[in-house]
Amino acid sequence: MSRYDFQIPVTFKHRIVFTRDAFAADNADLMEILAEGGGRRVIVFLEEAVSAAWPGLVKSITGYFGAGSLDFRGVVNVPGGEVAKADDSVVRRVWAELDAAHIDRHSYALVIGGGAFLDAVGYAVATAHRGVRLVRFPTTTLSQDDSGVGVKSAINFFGKKNWVGVFSVPFAVVNDFRFLHTQDEETRRAGLIEAVKVALVKDASFFEWIEEHLTALSILDPETLEQCVEKSALLHARHIATGGDPFETGSSRPLDFGHWAAHKLEAMSGYRLSHAPAVAVGLALDTIYSARVGLLEPASAERVLRVLDGLSLRTYHPDLELRDESGQRRVFAGLDEFREHLGGELTVLLLEGLGRGVDVHEFDMPLLDRCIGELRSRWETGARAGSTQ
Ligand SMILES: NC(=O)c1ccc[n+]([C@@H]2O[C@H](COP(=O)([O-])OP(=O)(O)OC[C@H]3O[C@@H](n4cnc5c(N)ncnc54)[C@H](O)[C@@H]3O)[C@@H](O)[C@H]2O)c1
Ligand SMILES: [Zn+2]
Repeated sequence: MSRYDFQIPVTFKHRIVFTRDAFAADNADLMEILAEGGGRRVIVFLEEAVSAAWPGLVKSITGYFGAGSLDFRGVVNVPGGEVAKADDSVVRRVWAELDAAHIDRHSYALVIGGGAFLDAVGYAVATAHRGVRLVRFPTTTLSQDDSGVGVKSAINFFGKKNWVGVFSVPFAVVNDFRFLHTQDEETRRAGLIEAVKVALVKDASFFEWIEEHLTALSILDPETLEQCVEKSALLHARHIATGGDPFETGSSRPLDFGHWAAHKLEAMSGYRLSHAPAVAVGLALDTIYSARVGLLEPASAERVLRVLDGLSLRTYHPDLELRDESGQRRVFAGLDEFREHLGGELTVLLLEGLGRGVDVHEFDMPLLDRCIGELRSRWETGARAGSTQ
């Protein structure tokens, strides 16, 4: 046998900009960041719903690039939302547009939309020519405070969430706060769950900040929302950059706290239940379980649930009651799917303190079952008392 092991050193620059009105004539942030790459050609993919919510946007984008020296290939409107990643039709359409516009590896594809749109269009961009330079413009709370600053893009396949996709670091991420204020209230609020999540697994002081600003956040006060988004995005990005496993080759997935149940609930609903509200339920469940299994102080779990209630994030979903032929809750299959996804050994992060996660490799299923019962009775009591839960 002859064997040769080579080390291939690769580092990536992960550029993240927070700005407002990136396409205003007097805002140079975007041009400065594009100048760093030296590319000449630009195409823009814009989610239709965003275009509809901000009628002057296409004109602003066209004016912005019209005044500059880049070779601007136009704005392509594409539908977004969860259906965009339900199959490969959006991906194929984007490939065709990239090809027709002669976009090469050195060109920039700006992708403006919510998390689902960024996933589908980002996957197409990241695979065309083995990777065109992707500049993400996340437009929802969730995509600005979590997914947009990440390094993954995927679409659903074989009825499974994110089955086909890539790890690839975008050329840049531009979090333009202006987009936060064109979302509907539900989407604006729901994405806060990923900020709570990252606080719980990474930074107790951020969790305390959320508690202190609960009233302002609950009414979606614009300035507080923007601060929360920025803090959350930076914690996510810092974990990716410094956590030692940016492309998730190991089993430990701290940013997926509460996600095993969330992914299963989403799939069970045929993706009618979207990611953020599903994570709120999954996060509540794993928090209660962390306490009942003896890892987390019960008073800390109560603080988490109080924050979720204060933000009017629903901590229970009736689909938790759905059962398979053997009488087992269907959501529990989410644990097996998580195990399979990780390559054999189940690794789920639970809480041993606020801001402190711990990996566990098995679950006490009867206890988990009782935790769902607990969530249900909290929710029913709250509903009877007329709370916003
Ligand atoms: N790649 C990753 O690492 C990663 C991580 C977490 C979540 N995700 C994915 O992100 C998706 C959820 O993203 P989301 O919560 O942003 O939802 P979304 O993309 O479905 O957007 C929610 C709704 O808001 C609309 N919208 C988006 N921006 C708007 C704006 N500025 N104004 C008006 N309407 C707007 C969309 O059309 C959609 O109807 C899920 O598919 C999830 O799997 C991916
Ligand atoms: Zn998530």
